[in-house]
Amino acid sequence: DLPDRVRIHEVGPRDGLQNEKTTVPTEVKAEFIRRLAAAGLGTVEATSFVHPKWVPQLADAEQLFPQVKDLSAKAVRLPVLVPNERGLDRALALGAHEVAVFASATESFAKANLNRTVDESLAMFAPVVARAKEAGLRVRGYVSMCFGDPWEGAVPLHQVARVCTALRAMGCDELSLGDTIGVATPGHVLELLSLLNEEGVPTPALAVHFHDTYGQALANAYAALEHGVTVFDASAGGLGGCPYAKSATGNLATEDLVWMLRGLGIETGVDLAALTATSVWMADHLGRPSPSRTVRALSRK
Ligand code: HMG
Ligand code: MG
Repeated sequence: DLPDRVRIHEVGPRDGLQNEKTTVPTEVKAEFIRRLAAAGLGTVEATSFVHPKWVPQLADAEQLFPQVKDLSAKAVRLPVLVPNERGLDRALALGAHEVAVFASATESFAKANLNRTVDESLAMFAPVVARAKEAGLRVRGYVSMCFGDPWEGAVPLHQVARVCTALRAMGCDELSLGDTIGVATPGHVLELLSLLNEEGVPTPALAVHFHDTYGQALANAYAALEHGVTVFDASAGGLGGCPYAKSATGNLATEDLVWMLRGLGIETGVDLAALTATSVWMADHLGRPSPSRTVRALSRK
């Protein structure tokens, strides 16, 4: 009893581009977002309102967001990352409807990514979530390093559950479970999802966010699908990585996910040909081919 329809949370413009060596011009980013929306992606994570020195690739958030904001009138959700109240202020000033805070299940990554301990970063997020909810925004809470950490190795499930429960208590509408460095395998995914359910986090409040370092992202997505998850993060063409997590590679490619879901008869609203053309166009801009097998197969002349 798989679902008839799932929602894809496209992260290419944010997770995909935040790790590129070359800074992509703002106009190209705006066109990327427009093309993704035109290809049928109803949620496109647009950018991050983080410290510009920490992620220079997304330092143009103030210029970019107004160039695409009209899409939200056409029912395209444009979430943006905000680590703190300063980030929320910037997002609110531009009329964002949806924000995401990003926590870590491990101390090492909290320090590397947020310059805080896990608890200090949760304390930083609490007023962000409260104020965003008051303003009527939808709030997502990411949890990174749910399955393994490059400094700490294996991550105990209860450590992930503690951070998830804290973000839920703050008022996050949805949690996205991040396999930041792509080490998860399907059995591990099912164990974490079951534990979270036992700890009172219902499956409809969960999304999964797989990176494809070990080629397991699609298998992990299928495991989550069988468990009942209906929100999947993916990036067009498999772009991505996190600059503060060594050994992180691209996300699960949206095309690979759509190809599998289409075969299962599960609706996503995505036009695979238009999406593939978009990824090929972006790969040309970046000067290297997409790592997605589906993009390569579908774009072979
Ligand atoms: P900090 O250095 O501790 O900052 O960084 P601070 O709070 O001490 O503030 C220092 C100065 O920065 C202040 O200015 C602030 O105003 C300014 P001053 O008063 O000294 O002149 N500042 C800001 N300016 C603009 N926008 C802001 C902002 N915040 C402070 N939002 C901070 C702390 C959180 C800011 C920093 O660590 C940061 O920006 N980190 C972001 C890292 C990041 O974006 N990582 C990638 C996203 S996470 C990810 O990719 C994982 C995910 O995909 C899921 C997965 O795969 O697992 C989501
Ligand atoms: Mg990520």
